[in-house]
Amino acid sequence: SFQVFRDVPPLRELRNQLQRSDRTVGFVPTMGALHQGHLSLIRQAAAENTDVFVSVYVNPTQFGVNEDLSSYPRTWESDVEKLEKLNGEFEQSSLPPSGRITAIFAPTGQVMYPTLPPASAIDGAGSFVTITPLATKLEGASRPVFFRGVATVCTKLFNIVKPNRVYFGQKDVQQCAIIKRMVKDFHIDVDVRIGSTMREADGLAMSSRNVYLGSRRRAVGPVLSEALRAAEATFKSGKLGRKDILGAANTIVDDKLSEQRSLSPSKRALFEVDYISLADPDTLDEIEQVDPSKGAILSGAVKM
Ligand code: PAJ
Repeated sequence: SFQVFRDVPPLRELRNQLQRSDRTVGFVPTMGALHQGHLSLIRQAAAENTDVFVSVYVNPTQFGVNEDLSSYPRTWESDVEKLEKLNGEFEQSSLPPSGRITAIFAPTGQVMYPTLPPASAIDGAGSFVTITPLATKLEGASRPVFFRGVATVCTKLFNIVKPNRVYFGQKDVQQCAIIKRMVKDFHIDVDVRIGSTMREADGLAMSSRNVYLGSRRRAVGPVLSEALRAAEATFKSGKLGRKDILGAANTIVDDKLSEQRSLSPSKRALFEVDYISLADPDTLDEIEQVDPSKGAILSGAVKM
């Protein structure tokens, strides 16, 4: 029901053909290992466009040298099955309007990085898109090449697909801020749409990387969503100050950590707080007080 493209020219041909018949393309970039978070973005794209393009590409330039590029889950067969099933759902749907997944773009490394030698795929010379200082904050502080890789691959993908709308998940809230900034600064002619975070029943945000968690870590994983919920509840009760909002989150995290520390080493799952942040939604600068007319981004990372 959809075509799979490994190279740019045939995909461009289809894209131009759709353009001539006034169809609109919603684009969902992914690294595969698809789950309900990805599928919810595709559903949103199908509700807002006649055609949905999905990319499946594990982008090497956004992984640091000590990160999980080689072990990142690759589940191509089941990804394709999930997308076919979703298209079946769209065909049966009575909810108008419903677009379809028309194209999967699953390029090779050579196609995406035609002039970059593999050795410098992680660092060094090459053509890159840098968005500073946004990319150095929060996640960027501990993962220095991450957002340079994301901005670079998304620029390439946007140039290839030429989508009317692109879809990103709020789970990766800094990625959303960076893509919005990039689109604005480079005058990219695309509408950036943000989809809400899909979670497991206990609150853990769905992620392709959750398979890395063993059962003990998995059981402690919801601590982050619990902390964010507590901070959100504090804000909703009318408190706008940083100390109150982040204090609520930190209490949950500290309590969970002491609970785990009291367990025997063979039973516990310890973790470190990388950051818990209350930041300006555009600049990601830390703020002392939420401006209710502007809102704020509450985000966090814990390392297990
Ligand atoms: P990936 O982690 O595969 O995520 C693809 C898209 O799905 C991103 O926009 C991400 O925010 C969204 N997503 C992931 N988990 C989600 C969840 N639980 N709920 C809602 N949306 C979720 O993010 C990337 O890939 C890459 O950095 C990419 C943008 C593809 C560039 O390589």
